[in-house]
Amino acid sequence: MADETAIKRAQEHFGKLLRKQMERVERMKETKDPVDLSKLKKIIIGVCGGDGIGPYICDSARMVMEHLLADRIKSGNIEVRTIDGLTIERRVEVMKAIPDDTLKELRKCHLILKGPTTTPKKGDPWPNIESANVAMRKELDLFANVRPVKVPELGIDWMFFRENTEGSYALGSDGIDVNDDLAIDFCVATAQGTERIIRAGFEHAKKSGVNYVSLVTKANVVKTTDGKFLNTAAEVAKDYPGVKWDDWFIDIMTAKLIDPYRRSDFKVMVLPNLYGDILTDEAAQIQGGVGTAGSANIGTKYSMFEAIHGSAPRMVTEGRAQYADPSSMIKAVALMLGHMGETEKAGQLEMALDICCQFEKKKVMTGRSNGATGDEFAQYVMDTIARKDLQKVWNKYVSDAVAAVKK
Ligand code: IPM
Ligand code: MG
Repeated sequence: MADETAIKRAQEHFGKLLRKQMERVERMKETKDPVDLSKLKKIIIGVCGGDGIGPYICDSARMVMEHLLADRIKSGNIEVRTIDGLTIERRVEVMKAIPDDTLKELRKCHLILKGPTTTPKKGDPWPNIESANVAMRKELDLFANVRPVKVPELGIDWMFFRENTEGSYALGSDGIDVNDDLAIDFCVATAQGTERIIRAGFEHAKKSGVNYVSLVTKANVVKTTDGKFLNTAAEVAKDYPGVKWDDWFIDIMTAKLIDPYRRSDFKVMVLPNLYGDILTDEAAQIQGGVGTAGSANIGTKYSMFEAIHGSAPRMVTEGRAQYADPSSMIKAVALMLGHMGETEKAGQLEMALDICCQFEKKKVMTGRSNGATGDEFAQYVMDTIARKDLQKVWNKYVSDAVAAVKK
């Protein structure tokens, strides 16, 4: 027989969630135009180290960032601030995904460079609090998770637009254990949330001139929310007659990314939160591993830039944190520079990273004392940027790599 008390309790919980989501929809409706960073007298960049290897790799990346922005920092046009308090110990102490005082400081920044943070799960020694990443994306309404993956010699140039505030993540910490036997989670899609991420993907396809978007869902099974995602895409596409688009299911797209004959056809992929999480790890692996990928979390008021991987706490307990590879965080700096309109510097940094990580490899990161430290690697990247023949060297390495693949 059905446990009516349990059902009633679950219904009440569900009602509360619906009310909160409807309030969020109202806030989205009021959202204004994006902040124009070029019009600001002063841009505040918050550097938030996180925990585990986070503070180490974040510091190395900060060094590169401050080096590239030295003039603007000196003139007072940019202020770089350290933001503490996002460690797992502190979050557990106040039992919040982001402590209130930390969130207050984050809200004073325009841009945030964030190191990885430990995300607890059921059974961990930590209480099962919400992920700090996920909370930050929601709190600051960073709706577009933009993740580029490039392998020039294979013709791969992908740009993922992962929805970042909804889907299975929106209520990921608010599911219901109805009783001991029945657990229910929720997946959320709103008209506003879906439209803005799809529009961002189409805008990018148009502006970059690739004029091609692939929508990735599982709308044949997850009919309501993914169905809404797909229908919204069909509507948004009408505003972009010059952009070709198609739709794929997540399972076959996962296969296509490792299909050497098809994968370089894809350019811009737009997808709901959870599929975006999974597919971008696969894509990053093709590029050389999750340690090579950065991620931009873009909203209208704030933006946050981070690595796509976790905090590797074991490296800290084993005393190896200084040998952790900061490439993903340095890649995040390149994304931040691009977002600020520093396109040339962003390009130089990306080329330098390619040369240091893939081609020249004068300082190799092994994660141990037989390899370079993160700071040594950051210095290597800065020295590479300073090379007068940077563009030429990069062109040569890439054309050699293309030739080697063709052989
Ligand atoms: C990512 C990460 C996060 C996510 C985790 C740490 C919560 O995997 O940024 O992709 O699932 O979004
Ligand atoms: Mg992930």
